[in-house]
This record gives sequence, structure tokens and C-alpha cells, in this order.
Amino acid sequence: MITETEQLEQALATACTEVGVAEHEVRAAHSLLAPLRDKGPIPHIHYLHSLRVGLTARAIGHTTHQDERALLLAGVLHDIGKAQVPVAILGKVNEWSRADQRIIQRHVMDGYRLLRGRFDFSAEIMLWHHRFQANGYPKVLPAPLHKYSHSTKAQIVEYGRLLALADVYDALHRPNNKFETGAPLTGLEIREKMLAFNPDRIPLVEMLYDTGVFATN
Ligand SMILES: [Fe+2]
Ligand SMILES: [Fe+2]
Repeated sequence: MITETEQLEQALATACTEVGVAEHEVRAAHSLLAPLRDKGPIPHIHYLHSLRVGLTARAIGHTTHQDERALLLAGVLHDIGKAQVPVAILGKVNEWSRADQRIIQRHVMDGYRLLRGRFDFSAEIMLWHHRFQANGYPKVLPAPLHKYSHSTKAQIVEYGRLLALADVYDALHRPNNKFETGAPLTGLEIREKMLAFNPDRIPLVEMLYDTGVFATN
């Protein structure tokens, strides 16, 4: 029987072909993900989250007619900095001290440093994936890696926003996620939370449910 990991890896390989990610980029992405693969309290938990977020971000890009390749890569690579977080802290559930939170928050800049030079556009996008939440971070962003046009700058922020939606949607499906402890949320409860957490994007969240990118079952 095919495992969830194999299923998601196959889905990623298909998605990479469909959106035109070159073979050498696929290999580079896999080497960047490798340290995260077996990290965490539950094997593959962060790795599978990364693959799912990439696939969901790509689907959002498809539905909203935006760059699916950019969203797929940024999604898959958004949390690679978590490989630097000690397992003891990654495994905690809703009991992070301030010191733990500071260590976890470093995953954004750690991931950015791993990506820049190889995946510059993904690096620019992933910087934003925790900036839209309450107490978003990092507070200060590094200077852009290239001289971008106004429209490219706006695109980076928008893709960061879409990536954040895919990230929170996936995180809400995890039992004992950072928002809730105890029993997993139902699909309808997750939908309610997606609307409550993203008041600036209610029509988009509703459209993503209507088109099947997000599901309540
Ligand atoms: Fe993250
Ligand atoms: Fe994430």
C-alpha cells in the first residue's frame, strides 16, 4: 500500500512537471528538504506539511490565475528553516515559552538564508508567510535580493499572503495544532477559523472552498 509520504511525493513530482520546475531545481529542492524529512516528534510531520502547503499554494495559484510555479516552490520550501529548531521545542504542543517562540521564529530567516542564491524568488515570498498573523514576524525584512519593479514587489507580498493561507489551512488540520489542543477540528470548524483568521480575504477563502481547493470533508 502506498504511504502518505509516497503519495505526496508523487503528487509533487507531477506538479513540478506540470508547472515546469526543471530537473536540477527539483533535486535542489529535495536536498534542501532532506534535513526536515526526519525531523520532528512524529516522523515526516514537517516534511509532509511542506509538501501539502506547496501543493495547496499551487492550487490557489491555479484558481486565482497566478504563478503556480512560484507558489509551488515557495510553498514546498517555506519551512525548511525548521530543520534548525531543536526537536524538543518542535514537539511541544501549546506550551511554548517566550524563549521557545523566539527560537521557532528564527525558522523564517534561517530558511531565507538557505534559499537565497538558489531560489531567490521563493526566498522573497517565504519571508512573508508569518507576517499576516497576529504578532507577525519577522518584524524587519532584509533588503530585496534584486532590484524589482513595483509590480514584482507587489507580487511577492501577494504570493506571501496566498502562501500564508495555504499554511494556516494545513496547520488547522493537525491535531493539537498551535491554535487548538484536544480533538481535531471538523472541516466546518476549520472553515469558520479560516474566515475568522483572514478577515481581509473572506471572498477569496469562500471562493477557495467553492472551487474545491479547500474542503470541509
Ligand atoms: Fe513557518
Ligand atoms: Fe508552515
